[in-house]
Amino acid sequence: MSNNTYRAAIITASDKGSRGEREDASGKLIREILEPKGYRVESYVVLPDEQELLEREMRRICDGALADLILTTGGTGFSPRDRTPEATAAVSERLVPGIAEAMRMQSMGITKRAMLSRAIAAIRGKTLIVNLPGSPKAVRENLEYIIGELGHGLDILLGRDSECAR
Ligand code: MTE
Repeated sequence: MSNNTYRAAIITASDKGSRGEREDASGKLIREILEPKGYRVESYVVLPDEQELLEREMRRICDGALADLILTTGGTGFSPRDRTPEATAAVSERLVPGIAEAMRMQSMGITKRAMLSRAIAAIRGKTLIVNLPGSPKAVRENLEYIIGELGHGLDILLGRDSECAR
């Protein structure tokens, strides 16, 4: 694990959350998990499940180099308004399939419903974007599993590390 620090942004995709009808427990939990691991949360927004708005926020952060890591929560399921993976794919320059594969591999041992998550991960510029499911339980199960390895990827993306040798 690296001792470097990273800048993070949290985007919660939730129609109810954006209308103030539901407290965003998942976004808060992401912050709680990130901070002890060396991530400083630079921005946090709750947006409705609108692909256009999600894309715009991701572009703003990536193109302004405002964060090294964007974590989204919500909008990865089958509900007609779930569009977070599509927004992520639309802004993606390079896909990172292994992160979503790892999350589903681990999560399948907890609930077979993990196969229903359409989450993806992608790179735009020097920012890594990772989709997490919507519930706090799923956020914890997924994020705690991947967080330890993200730093190495970010170090390479940011040019802090040039190779994978240990
Ligand atoms: N992954 C883990 N680890 N734990 C869970 O409880 N829930 C699944 C899946 N991934 C779950 C999980 C369910 S029920 C769904 S529908 C999808 O994530 C998508 O969740 P979302 O629609 O809240 O984004």
